[in-house]
Amino acid sequence: MTSHNKGSSENKNPAAAVRGSELASDFTVSVHYDARLYREDISGSIAHARMLGRQGIIEQDDVEKIVDGLAQITEEIESGEFEWKSELEDIHMNVESRLYELIGDAAGRLHTARSRNDQVATDTRLWTQGACARSFEACLALQTELVNLAESHVDTILPGYTHLQRGQPVVLAHHLLAYFEMFDRDATRFAQAAESADVMPLGSGAMAGVPYPLDRGWVADELDFSEISRNSMDAVSDRDFIVEFLTASSLAMAHLSRLDEELIIWSSDEFGFVKLSDDFTSGSSIMPQKRNPDFAELIRGKTGRVYGSLMGLLTTIKGLPLTYNRDLQEDKEGLFDAADTVIAALESAAGMVAGITVNADRMRQAAANGFVLATDIADYLVGKGVPFREAYIAVSELSKQCIADGVGFGELELADFQRASDLFDEGVMDITLESAVAARDVPGGTAPNRVSEAIAEAKRMLAEAQE
Ligand code: ARG
Repeated sequence: MTSHNKGSSENKNPAAAVRGSELASDFTVSVHYDARLYREDISGSIAHARMLGRQGIIEQDDVEKIVDGLAQITEEIESGEFEWKSELEDIHMNVESRLYELIGDAAGRLHTARSRNDQVATDTRLWTQGACARSFEACLALQTELVNLAESHVDTILPGYTHLQRGQPVVLAHHLLAYFEMFDRDATRFAQAAESADVMPLGSGAMAGVPYPLDRGWVADELDFSEISRNSMDAVSDRDFIVEFLTASSLAMAHLSRLDEELIIWSSDEFGFVKLSDDFTSGSSIMPQKRNPDFAELIRGKTGRVYGSLMGLLTTIKGLPLTYNRDLQEDKEGLFDAADTVIAALESAAGMVAGITVNADRMRQAAANGFVLATDIADYLVGKGVPFREAYIAVSELSKQCIADGVGFGELELADFQRASDLFDEGVMDITLESAVAARDVPGGTAPNRVSEAIAEAKRMLAEAQE
Protein backbone atom coordinates (compact mmCIF):
# COMPACT_ATOMS: atom_id res chain seq x y z
CA MET A 1 0.00 0.00 0.00
CA THR A 2 1.22 3.51 -0.66
CA SER A 3 1.34 5.71 2.38
CA HIS A 4 0.06 8.73 0.48
CA ASN A 5 -3.66 8.71 -0.20
CA LYS A 6 -3.23 10.42 -3.56
CA GLY A 7 -1.17 7.48 -4.81
CA SER A 8 -2.17 5.97 -8.11
CA SER A 9 -5.16 3.64 -8.01
CA GLU A 10 -2.88 1.04 -9.56
CA ASN A 11 -0.97 0.77 -6.28
CA LYS A 12 -4.12 0.58 -4.23
CA ASN A 13 -5.60 -2.15 -6.31
CA PRO A 14 -6.78 -4.70 -3.76
CA ALA A 15 -4.63 -7.37 -5.36
CA ALA A 16 -1.64 -5.47 -4.08
CA ALA A 17 -3.32 -4.30 -0.90
CA VAL A 18 -4.53 -7.64 0.27
CA ARG A 19 -1.89 -9.95 -1.02
CA GLY A 20 1.18 -7.76 -1.15
CA SER A 21 3.68 -9.20 -3.58
CA GLU A 22 2.69 -12.74 -2.77
CA LEU A 23 0.72 -14.36 -5.54
CA ALA A 24 -2.19 -16.59 -4.74
CA SER A 25 -1.22 -20.17 -5.27
CA ASP A 26 -3.50 -22.48 -7.20
CA PHE A 27 -4.29 -24.13 -3.92
CA THR A 28 -6.11 -21.14 -2.48
CA VAL A 29 -7.78 -19.92 -5.67
CA SER A 30 -11.56 -20.23 -5.89
CA VAL A 31 -12.50 -17.84 -8.68
CA HIS A 32 -12.87 -20.65 -11.22
CA TYR A 33 -15.99 -21.70 -9.35
CA ASP A 34 -17.05 -18.81 -7.12
CA ALA A 35 -17.36 -16.56 -10.19
CA ARG A 36 -20.84 -18.04 -10.22
CA LEU A 37 -21.64 -15.71 -7.34
CA TYR A 38 -21.07 -12.58 -9.41
CA ARG A 39 -24.70 -11.43 -9.50
CA GLU A 40 -25.17 -11.90 -5.78
CA ASP A 41 -21.78 -10.31 -5.06
CA ILE A 42 -22.57 -7.27 -7.14
CA SER A 43 -26.09 -6.75 -5.86
CA GLY A 44 -24.76 -7.10 -2.30
CA SER A 45 -22.11 -4.48 -3.05
CA ILE A 46 -24.61 -2.08 -4.60
CA ALA A 47 -26.94 -2.33 -1.59
CA HIS A 48 -24.00 -1.90 0.80
CA ALA A 49 -22.64 1.14 -1.08
CA ARG A 50 -26.07 2.82 -1.22
CA MET A 51 -26.54 2.28 2.49
CA LEU A 52 -23.09 3.74 3.23
CA GLY A 53 -24.15 6.80 1.23
CA ARG A 54 -27.51 7.12 2.99
CA GLN A 55 -25.81 6.92 6.35
CA GLY A 56 -23.30 9.59 5.36
CA ILE A 57 -20.42 7.15 5.76
CA ILE A 58 -19.24 7.75 2.19
CA GLU A 59 -19.98 10.57 -0.28
CA GLN A 60 -22.98 10.29 -2.58
CA ASP A 61 -20.65 11.00 -5.46
CA ASP A 62 -18.63 7.94 -4.69
CA VAL A 63 -21.80 5.86 -4.35
CA GLU A 64 -22.80 6.83 -7.92
CA LYS A 65 -19.38 5.90 -9.23
CA ILE A 66 -19.41 2.58 -7.42
CA VAL A 67 -22.90 1.68 -8.64
CA ASP A 68 -22.11 2.65 -12.24
CA GLY A 69 -18.82 0.78 -12.13
CA LEU A 70 -20.49 -2.35 -10.78
CA ALA A 71 -23.15 -2.12 -13.50
CA GLN A 72 -20.41 -2.03 -16.11
CA ILE A 73 -18.69 -5.01 -14.50
CA THR A 74 -21.94 -6.96 -14.69
CA GLU A 75 -22.11 -6.20 -18.41
CA GLU A 76 -18.51 -7.22 -18.91
CA ILE A 77 -19.04 -10.50 -17.10
CA GLU A 78 -22.24 -11.28 -18.98
CA SER A 79 -20.75 -10.46 -22.37
CA GLY A 80 -17.71 -12.59 -21.62
CA GLU A 81 -15.32 -9.64 -21.79
CA PHE A 82 -14.41 -9.69 -18.14
CA GLU A 83 -10.86 -10.76 -17.56
CA TRP A 84 -10.84 -13.16 -14.64
CA LYS A 85 -7.56 -13.24 -12.78
CA SER A 86 -6.70 -16.24 -10.66
CA GLU A 87 -4.01 -14.26 -8.85
CA LEU A 88 -6.91 -12.27 -7.38
CA GLU A 89 -8.14 -15.52 -5.87
CA ASP A 90 -11.88 -15.10 -5.66
CA ILE A 91 -14.93 -13.38 -7.09
CA HIS A 92 -14.82 -10.61 -4.50
CA MET A 93 -11.29 -9.48 -5.23
CA ASN A 94 -11.77 -9.80 -8.98
CA VAL A 95 -14.77 -7.49 -8.89
CA GLU A 96 -13.16 -5.03 -6.50
CA SER A 97 -9.97 -4.92 -8.50
CA ARG A 98 -11.80 -4.23 -11.75
CA LEU A 99 -13.78 -1.52 -9.98
CA TYR A 100 -10.51 0.19 -9.18
CA GLU A 101 -9.51 0.07 -12.81
CA LEU A 102 -12.82 1.59 -13.80
CA ILE A 103 -13.45 4.28 -11.16
CA GLY A 104 -10.19 4.72 -9.29
CA ASP A 105 -10.06 5.72 -5.65
CA ALA A 106 -13.82 5.67 -5.03
CA ALA A 107 -13.60 1.88 -5.34
CA GLY A 108 -11.58 1.83 -2.16
CA ARG A 109 -14.56 3.13 -0.19
CA LEU A 110 -16.85 0.23 -1.08
CA HIS A 111 -15.24 -2.13 1.37
CA THR A 112 -15.79 0.31 4.27
CA ALA A 113 -17.58 -1.48 7.11
CA ARG A 114 -17.43 -4.80 5.33
CA SER A 115 -15.25 -7.88 5.25
CA ARG A 116 -15.08 -10.68 2.74
CA ASN A 117 -16.35 -12.82 5.59
CA ASP A 118 -19.77 -11.19 5.80
CA GLN A 119 -19.67 -10.57 2.06
CA VAL A 120 -19.20 -14.21 1.05
CA ALA A 121 -21.77 -15.35 3.60
CA THR A 122 -24.26 -12.90 2.08
CA ASP A 123 -23.50 -13.93 -1.50
CA THR A 124 -23.81 -17.62 -0.68
CA ARG A 125 -27.10 -17.11 1.16
CA LEU A 126 -28.55 -15.22 -1.80
CA TRP A 127 -27.35 -17.89 -4.22
CA THR A 128 -28.70 -20.71 -2.07
CA GLN A 129 -32.11 -19.05 -1.90
CA GLY A 130 -32.15 -18.99 -5.70
CA ALA A 131 -31.13 -22.65 -5.85
CA CYS A 132 -33.87 -23.56 -3.37
CA ALA A 133 -36.45 -21.73 -5.49
CA ARG A 134 -35.31 -23.52 -8.65
CA SER A 135 -35.31 -26.89 -6.91
CA PHE A 136 -38.75 -26.22 -5.46
CA GLU A 137 -40.08 -25.41 -8.95
CA ALA A 138 -38.46 -28.53 -10.37
CA CYS A 139 -40.19 -30.64 -7.69
CA LEU A 140 -43.54 -29.11 -8.63
CA ALA A 141 -42.93 -29.77 -12.32
CA LEU A 142 -42.20 -33.42 -11.62
CA GLN A 143 -45.21 -33.69 -9.29
CA THR A 144 -47.36 -32.22 -12.06
CA GLU A 145 -46.24 -34.91 -14.50
CA LEU A 146 -46.87 -37.63 -11.92
CA VAL A 147 -50.41 -36.36 -11.40
CA ASN A 148 -50.99 -36.07 -15.17
CA LEU A 149 -49.97 -39.67 -15.68
CA ALA A 150 -51.93 -40.79 -12.61
CA GLU A 151 -55.12 -39.21 -14.01
CA SER A 152 -55.21 -41.64 -16.92
CA HIS A 153 -54.54 -44.66 -14.71
CA VAL A 154 -57.07 -44.59 -11.91
CA ASP A 155 -58.37 -47.97 -13.09
CA THR A 156 -55.12 -49.52 -14.28
CA ILE A 157 -54.38 -52.42 -11.96
CA LEU A 158 -50.94 -53.79 -11.23
CA PRO A 159 -49.48 -55.77 -8.37
CA GLY A 160 -48.30 -53.74 -5.42
CA TYR A 161 -45.04 -55.23 -4.16
CA THR A 162 -43.38 -55.83 -0.85
CA HIS A 163 -39.89 -57.37 -0.93
CA LEU A 164 -40.33 -57.07 -4.71
CA GLN A 165 -42.78 -59.98 -4.38
CA ARG A 166 -46.33 -59.46 -5.60
CA GLY A 167 -48.43 -58.46 -2.62
CA GLN A 168 -51.84 -56.92 -3.24
CA PRO A 169 -53.38 -55.28 -6.28
CA VAL A 170 -53.20 -51.50 -6.50
CA VAL A 171 -54.08 -49.00 -9.18
CA LEU A 172 -51.18 -47.38 -11.02
CA ALA A 173 -52.36 -43.90 -10.06
CA HIS A 174 -51.97 -44.85 -6.39
CA HIS A 175 -48.42 -46.04 -7.01
CA LEU A 176 -47.55 -42.81 -8.85
CA LEU A 177 -49.06 -40.67 -6.12
CA ALA A 178 -46.73 -42.30 -3.59
CA TYR A 179 -43.95 -40.47 -5.45
CA PHE A 180 -46.03 -37.31 -5.47
CA GLU A 181 -45.88 -37.45 -1.67
CA MET A 182 -42.09 -37.90 -1.61
CA PHE A 183 -41.49 -34.94 -3.90
CA ASP A 184 -43.99 -32.93 -1.93
CA ARG A 185 -41.88 -33.41 1.19
CA ASP A 186 -38.79 -32.52 -0.85
CA ALA A 187 -40.40 -29.31 -2.08
CA THR A 188 -41.24 -28.42 1.52
CA ARG A 189 -37.65 -29.09 2.57
CA PHE A 190 -36.30 -26.84 -0.21
CA ALA A 191 -38.65 -24.10 0.98
CA GLN A 192 -37.43 -24.58 4.54
CA ALA A 193 -33.79 -24.42 3.44
CA ALA A 194 -34.59 -21.16 1.63
CA GLU A 195 -36.00 -19.81 4.88
CA SER A 196 -32.83 -20.75 6.75
CA ALA A 197 -30.76 -18.96 4.12
CA ASP A 198 -33.00 -15.90 4.38
CA VAL A 199 -30.94 -14.07 7.04
CA MET A 200 -28.59 -11.23 6.12
CA PRO A 201 -25.05 -11.28 7.55
CA LEU A 202 -23.78 -7.91 6.19
CA GLY A 203 -22.78 -5.66 9.07
CA SER A 204 -21.04 -8.50 10.86
CA GLY A 205 -17.74 -7.40 9.35
CA ALA A 206 -14.91 -9.82 9.86
CA MET A 207 -16.73 -11.24 12.89
CA ALA A 208 -17.24 -8.68 15.66
CA GLY A 209 -19.51 -6.18 13.93
CA VAL A 210 -18.29 -2.84 12.55
CA PRO A 211 -17.62 0.56 14.11
CA TYR A 212 -19.91 2.46 11.72
CA PRO A 213 -23.56 3.50 12.08
CA LEU A 214 -24.93 1.04 9.52
CA ASP A 215 -28.57 0.56 8.62
CA ARG A 216 -28.56 -3.21 8.36
CA GLY A 217 -32.31 -3.42 8.02
CA TRP A 218 -32.24 -1.18 4.95
CA VAL A 219 -29.66 -3.41 3.25
CA ALA A 220 -31.71 -6.49 4.14
CA ASP A 221 -34.78 -4.93 2.50
CA GLU A 222 -32.81 -4.00 -0.59
CA LEU A 223 -31.57 -7.57 -0.95
CA ASP A 224 -34.95 -9.09 -0.10
CA PHE A 225 -33.79 -10.72 3.10
CA SER A 226 -36.51 -11.13 5.74
CA GLU A 227 -34.19 -10.64 8.68
CA ILE A 228 -30.71 -9.68 9.76
CA SER A 229 -28.39 -11.99 11.67
CA ARG A 230 -28.44 -11.58 15.45
CA ASN A 231 -24.85 -12.54 16.18
CA SER A 232 -21.90 -11.41 14.09
CA MET A 233 -19.66 -14.30 15.10
CA ASP A 234 -22.25 -16.87 14.12
CA ALA A 235 -23.17 -14.96 10.98
CA VAL A 236 -19.73 -15.20 9.36
CA SER A 237 -19.23 -18.85 10.19
CA ASP A 238 -22.69 -20.37 9.80
CA ARG A 239 -23.14 -22.68 6.83
CA ASP A 240 -26.07 -24.66 8.24
CA PHE A 241 -28.31 -23.37 5.46
CA ILE A 242 -26.08 -25.10 2.91
CA VAL A 243 -26.19 -28.33 4.91
CA GLU A 244 -29.98 -28.00 4.87
CA PHE A 245 -30.04 -27.45 1.12
CA LEU A 246 -27.75 -30.46 0.63
CA THR A 247 -29.95 -32.55 2.93
CA ALA A 248 -33.04 -31.61 0.94
CA SER A 249 -31.13 -32.36 -2.26
CA SER A 250 -29.91 -35.71 -0.95
CA LEU A 251 -33.41 -36.85 -0.04
CA ALA A 252 -34.75 -35.65 -3.38
CA MET A 253 -32.01 -37.69 -5.09
CA ALA A 254 -32.91 -40.70 -2.94
CA HIS A 255 -36.51 -40.40 -4.09
CA LEU A 256 -35.51 -39.90 -7.70
CA SER A 257 -33.25 -42.89 -7.42
CA ARG A 258 -36.14 -45.03 -6.17
CA LEU A 259 -38.43 -43.84 -8.95
CA ASP A 260 -35.73 -44.47 -11.54
CA GLU A 261 -34.98 -47.90 -10.17
CA GLU A 262 -38.63 -48.80 -10.64
CA LEU A 263 -38.69 -47.39 -14.15
CA ILE A 264 -35.57 -49.39 -14.98
CA ILE A 265 -37.13 -52.59 -13.67
CA TRP A 266 -40.52 -51.84 -15.19
CA SER A 267 -39.04 -51.17 -18.63
CA SER A 268 -37.10 -54.47 -18.66
CA ASP A 269 -38.38 -57.24 -20.92
CA GLU A 270 -39.08 -59.30 -17.82
CA PHE A 271 -41.59 -56.77 -16.50
CA GLY A 272 -42.58 -54.87 -19.62
CA PHE A 273 -44.86 -52.57 -17.61
CA VAL A 274 -43.68 -49.39 -19.29
CA LYS A 275 -41.78 -48.14 -22.28
CA LEU A 276 -39.58 -45.08 -21.82
CA SER A 277 -39.54 -42.52 -24.60
CA ASP A 278 -36.58 -42.54 -26.98
CA ASP A 279 -35.54 -39.14 -25.65
CA PHE A 280 -34.55 -40.78 -22.39
CA THR A 281 -32.99 -44.00 -23.60
CA SER A 282 -30.08 -44.79 -25.85
CA GLY A 283 -28.85 -47.67 -27.92
CA SER A 284 -25.90 -49.90 -27.25
CA SER A 285 -22.80 -49.58 -29.40
CA ILE A 286 -22.77 -53.34 -29.98
CA MET A 287 -26.21 -54.77 -29.26
CA PRO A 288 -28.61 -53.38 -31.87
CA GLN A 289 -31.77 -54.32 -30.01
CA LYS A 290 -30.96 -52.33 -26.86
CA ARG A 291 -32.81 -49.34 -25.51
CA ASN A 292 -30.97 -48.55 -22.34
CA PRO A 293 -32.61 -46.39 -19.66
CA ASP A 294 -29.55 -44.12 -19.40
CA PHE A 295 -31.25 -41.10 -17.90
CA ALA A 296 -32.81 -43.15 -15.13
CA GLU A 297 -29.49 -44.86 -14.46
CA LEU A 298 -27.53 -41.62 -14.44
CA ILE A 299 -29.94 -40.00 -12.02
CA ARG A 300 -29.60 -43.06 -9.79
CA GLY A 301 -25.82 -42.87 -10.19
CA LYS A 302 -25.55 -39.14 -9.54
CA THR A 303 -27.24 -39.59 -6.19
CA GLY A 304 -23.82 -40.53 -4.84
CA ARG A 305 -22.18 -37.23 -5.65
CA VAL A 306 -24.96 -35.26 -3.96
CA TYR A 307 -24.63 -37.39 -0.81
CA GLY A 308 -20.89 -36.80 -1.15
CA SER A 309 -21.37 -33.04 -1.08
CA LEU A 310 -23.48 -33.32 2.06
CA MET A 311 -20.93 -35.53 3.81
CA GLY A 312 -18.10 -33.30 2.62
CA LEU A 313 -19.61 -30.15 4.07
CA LEU A 314 -20.67 -31.79 7.33
CA THR A 315 -17.08 -32.92 7.73
CA THR A 316 -15.67 -29.53 6.77
CA ILE A 317 -17.64 -27.60 9.37
CA LYS A 318 -17.07 -30.12 12.14
CA GLY A 319 -14.65 -28.85 14.76
CA LEU A 320 -14.16 -25.37 13.28
CA PRO A 321 -13.43 -22.86 16.00
CA LEU A 322 -15.35 -19.60 15.78
CA THR A 323 -15.41 -17.65 13.59
CA TYR A 324 -14.56 -17.61 9.88
CA ASN A 325 -11.91 -20.10 8.81
CA ARG A 326 -10.73 -20.56 5.29
CA ASP A 327 -12.02 -24.13 5.41
CA LEU A 328 -15.40 -22.55 4.72
CA GLN A 329 -14.36 -21.77 1.17
CA GLU A 330 -14.88 -25.51 0.62
CA ASP A 331 -18.64 -25.00 0.96
CA LYS A 332 -19.25 -23.80 -2.57
CA GLU A 333 -18.20 -26.47 -5.06
CA GLY A 334 -20.39 -29.08 -3.40
CA LEU A 335 -23.26 -26.61 -3.19
CA PHE A 336 -23.04 -25.69 -6.88
CA ASP A 337 -22.58 -29.26 -8.01
CA ALA A 338 -25.45 -30.55 -5.90
CA ALA A 339 -27.77 -27.79 -7.11
CA ASP A 340 -26.89 -28.44 -10.76
CA THR A 341 -27.33 -32.16 -10.26
CA VAL A 342 -30.58 -32.18 -8.33
CA ILE A 343 -32.27 -29.64 -10.60
CA ALA A 344 -31.20 -31.43 -13.79
CA ALA A 345 -32.23 -34.76 -12.28
CA LEU A 346 -35.67 -33.48 -11.27
CA GLU A 347 -36.18 -31.97 -14.71
CA SER A 348 -35.07 -35.15 -16.48
CA ALA A 349 -37.35 -37.23 -14.29
CA ALA A 350 -40.29 -34.95 -15.16
CA GLY A 351 -39.56 -35.42 -18.86
CA MET A 352 -39.19 -39.16 -18.40
CA VAL A 353 -42.51 -39.50 -16.55
CA ALA A 354 -44.25 -37.36 -19.19
CA GLY A 355 -42.95 -39.70 -21.92
CA ILE A 356 -43.88 -43.03 -20.33
CA THR A 357 -46.04 -45.44 -22.31
CA VAL A 358 -47.89 -47.73 -19.93
CA ASN A 359 -48.58 -51.33 -20.88
CA ALA A 360 -51.74 -51.81 -18.84
CA ASP A 361 -52.21 -55.38 -20.11
CA ARG A 362 -48.83 -56.48 -18.83
CA MET A 363 -49.54 -54.90 -15.48
CA ARG A 364 -52.89 -56.60 -15.23
CA GLN A 365 -51.45 -59.95 -16.28
CA ALA A 366 -48.82 -59.71 -13.58
CA ALA A 367 -51.55 -59.07 -11.04
CA ALA A 368 -53.85 -61.80 -12.38
CA ASN A 369 -51.21 -64.52 -12.60
CA GLY A 370 -50.18 -64.51 -9.01
CA PHE A 371 -51.81 -64.76 -5.67
CA VAL A 372 -52.32 -61.07 -5.05
CA LEU A 373 -55.93 -61.77 -3.99
CA ALA A 374 -54.84 -63.97 -1.09
CA THR A 375 -55.44 -61.26 1.51
CA ASP A 376 -58.89 -60.57 0.11
CA ILE A 377 -59.80 -64.23 0.19
CA ALA A 378 -58.66 -64.44 3.81
CA ASP A 379 -60.66 -61.26 4.55
CA TYR A 380 -63.68 -62.98 3.02
CA LEU A 381 -63.47 -65.70 5.67
CA VAL A 382 -63.03 -63.03 8.33
CA GLY A 383 -66.36 -61.67 7.09
CA LYS A 384 -67.83 -65.10 7.87
CA GLY A 385 -66.66 -64.84 11.48
CA VAL A 386 -63.30 -66.65 11.18
CA PRO A 387 -60.48 -65.04 13.22
CA PHE A 388 -57.97 -63.46 10.79
CA ARG A 389 -55.08 -65.77 11.80
CA GLU A 390 -57.15 -68.90 11.08
CA ALA A 391 -58.30 -67.48 7.78
CA TYR A 392 -54.68 -66.68 6.96
CA ILE A 393 -53.64 -70.29 7.56
CA ALA A 394 -56.49 -71.67 5.45
CA VAL A 395 -55.64 -69.44 2.49
CA SER A 396 -51.95 -70.10 2.88
CA GLU A 397 -52.65 -73.86 2.61
CA LEU A 398 -54.85 -73.20 -0.39
CA SER A 399 -52.12 -71.22 -2.18
CA LYS A 400 -49.57 -73.96 -1.50
CA GLN A 401 -51.96 -76.46 -3.07
CA CYS A 402 -52.43 -74.17 -6.07
CA ILE A 403 -48.68 -73.83 -6.54
CA ALA A 404 -48.33 -77.62 -6.36
CA ASP A 405 -51.12 -77.98 -8.95
CA GLY A 406 -49.72 -75.22 -11.11
CA VAL A 407 -52.88 -73.08 -11.03
CA GLY A 408 -53.80 -69.63 -9.75
CA PHE A 409 -56.72 -68.62 -7.54
CA GLY A 410 -58.54 -67.46 -10.66
CA GLU A 411 -58.80 -71.03 -11.91
CA LEU A 412 -60.35 -72.48 -8.74
CA GLU A 413 -63.94 -73.68 -8.45
CA LEU A 414 -66.04 -73.06 -5.37
CA ALA A 415 -65.50 -76.68 -4.34
CA ASP A 416 -61.73 -76.11 -4.28
CA PHE A 417 -62.20 -73.19 -1.90
CA GLN A 418 -64.54 -75.22 0.27
CA ARG A 419 -61.91 -77.90 0.70
CA ALA A 420 -59.82 -75.22 2.45
CA SER A 421 -62.73 -74.01 4.59
CA ASP A 422 -66.37 -74.96 4.56
CA LEU A 423 -67.23 -71.35 5.35
CA PHE A 424 -66.48 -70.35 1.76
CA ASP A 425 -69.65 -69.84 -0.29
CA GLU A 426 -70.33 -68.56 -3.82
CA GLY A 427 -69.50 -64.99 -2.73
CA VAL A 428 -65.80 -65.90 -2.89
CA MET A 429 -66.12 -66.28 -6.64
CA ASP A 430 -66.90 -62.55 -6.85
CA ILE A 431 -63.49 -61.55 -5.51
CA THR A 432 -61.65 -59.94 -8.40
CA LEU A 433 -58.79 -57.50 -8.86
CA GLU A 434 -61.41 -54.78 -9.21
CA SER A 435 -63.28 -55.77 -6.06
CA ALA A 436 -59.98 -55.99 -4.18
CA VAL A 437 -58.87 -52.45 -5.03
CA ALA A 438 -62.39 -51.07 -4.57
CA ALA A 439 -62.51 -52.63 -1.10
CA ARG A 440 -59.51 -50.53 0.08
CA ASP A 441 -61.89 -47.67 0.54
CA VAL A 442 -60.13 -45.90 3.39
CA PRO A 443 -58.54 -42.46 3.25
CA GLY A 444 -55.10 -43.07 1.74
CA GLY A 445 -56.19 -46.42 0.24
CA THR A 446 -56.04 -47.62 -3.34
CA ALA A 447 -59.83 -47.73 -4.01
CA PRO A 448 -60.29 -45.84 -7.30
CA ASN A 449 -62.77 -43.40 -5.73
CA ARG A 450 -60.21 -42.58 -3.03
CA VAL A 451 -57.46 -42.25 -5.62
CA SER A 452 -59.61 -39.86 -7.66
CA GLU A 453 -60.02 -37.77 -4.52
CA ALA A 454 -56.27 -37.94 -3.94
CA ILE A 455 -55.66 -36.68 -7.47
CA ALA A 456 -58.02 -33.77 -6.90
CA GLU A 457 -56.24 -33.00 -3.64
CA ALA A 458 -52.83 -33.22 -5.34
CA LYS A 459 -53.95 -30.75 -7.98
CA ARG A 460 -55.24 -28.42 -5.31
CA MET A 461 -51.87 -28.64 -3.50
CA LEU A 462 -49.97 -27.90 -6.71
CA ALA A 463 -52.16 -24.92 -7.52
CA GLU A 464 -51.64 -23.58 -4.02
CA ALA A 465 -47.86 -24.09 -4.20
CA GLN A 466 -47.70 -22.26 -7.50
CA GLU A 467 -49.46 -19.17 -6.12
N1 ARG B 1 -13.08 -16.97 -0.95
C1 ARG B 1 -13.41 -16.88 0.44
C2 ARG B 1 -14.49 -17.91 0.79
O1 ARG B 1 -15.09 -18.42 -0.09
C3 ARG B 1 -13.93 -15.52 0.73
C4 ARG B 1 -13.73 -15.10 2.14
C5 ARG B 1 -12.29 -14.91 2.39
N2 ARG B 1 -12.06 -14.38 3.68
C6 ARG B 1 -10.87 -14.41 4.23
N3 ARG B 1 -10.75 -13.92 5.39
N4 ARG B 1 -9.84 -14.93 3.59
O2 ARG B 1 -14.70 -18.23 1.92
